[in-house]
Amino acid sequence: MKKEQLTETFISLYGEHEDEIYLFFSPGRVNLIGEHTDYNGGYVFPCALSFGTYLLARKNQSRQVRFATTNFDHRGEVNLDTPFEKEGKSWMNYPVGVLNELRKTAREIEGLDLLYSGDIPNGAGLSSSASIEMVTAFTMNHIFGFGLDRMELVKLSQKAENIFVGVNCGIMDQFASGMGAAGHALFLNCDTLDYERIPLNLEGMKIVIANTNKRRGLADSKYNERRAQCESAVEALRTGKNIRNLSELTLDEFNKLSHLITDEVERKRARHVITENNRTLTAIEALNRGDVESFGHLMNQSHDSLRDDYEVTGKELDTLVEEARKMEGTIGSRMTGAGFGGCTVSIVREDAVESFIREVGTGYNKRTGLKADFYVAEIGDGSKQIV
Ligand code: GLA
Repeated sequence: MKKEQLTETFISLYGEHEDEIYLFFSPGRVNLIGEHTDYNGGYVFPCALSFGTYLLARKNQSRQVRFATTNFDHRGEVNLDTPFEKEGKSWMNYPVGVLNELRKTAREIEGLDLLYSGDIPNGAGLSSSASIEMVTAFTMNHIFGFGLDRMELVKLSQKAENIFVGVNCGIMDQFASGMGAAGHALFLNCDTLDYERIPLNLEGMKIVIANTNKRRGLADSKYNERRAQCESAVEALRTGKNIRNLSELTLDEFNKLSHLITDEVERKRARHVITENNRTLTAIEALNRGDVESFGHLMNQSHDSLRDDYEVTGKELDTLVEEARKMEGTIGSRMTGAGFGGCTVSIVREDAVESFIREVGTGYNKRTGLKADFYVAEIGDGSKQIV
């Protein structure tokens, strides 16, 4: 949306005022490979999208922070002198969670009027929530001169989601939203937080995102359960090797020690994490030598492991992936994000994108009765001020 349009909406909501109106943006993300590895100390390989959440902010000389959004007909406010309360499943919990984390570190903000505007499909697993958190943290840091670096803002936003919203997510989404760079994917080691921006040289190919349009509520999903299963697998494996995270094991070591995990389901969960971590490393090596075919093959394997061992795909995601793989121009296709609905990501030859969208859409609709949405992804920058 245009700056002028948003400013107009802002003024119609909050009125004219001499204080400056700031505009910031943080993107959503798509993960190319490395799924359900972040909270296991493993590798991920996401990139920031060109769509995300815009935030207009202006000081209002009061002790109230007022919230509005162009996405829903819902407004609210919090008082800076009283404790912040979580409000059911409201979208406001994401930004208020960030204010709450800032407050815990004794970083004081003043009253503000805020208008959010997102162009990411909600609940599609493209991290609209992380983009709301990141844009809030980034804006507060700028307006009140806290001097926090991007990584500190990423960690603060993740904490807001873990503690205030109550979803035990890893760091990937907030990281991708805060640290993204146009034309690059982010190779992140989630244990050390070392990272590298890797150019995505996909000449003649496109990244196509397909939305199942099956809504998934991350907080309600089995996400926290998967996380607990991984923790329990670590406990069991610790009798054989002193590890903190599943990602510390090589596949050989895991094969030797896996009998220590007596629960068969937990063993499968652990196997996904360890094989996925290996796939991610192998995929990045392939990309670095320009071997996109192998990268695509590993994406396919990633989906199969998420379907069979981690069991987070479901009929809609599996159908989209199956339909995508039938197409000649598809290099690789997999679910992206937490799963349980949401989106797939595919690498598709540029000249086949049109027929991909048409035919995968038709096949999916025939088999599920649902209509998929497609986006040809543009890889954009992380959090930024728009001037
Ligand atoms: C969600 C979480 C991330 C990550 C993915 C799965 O997007 O927010 O931290 O765990 O699921 O890879």
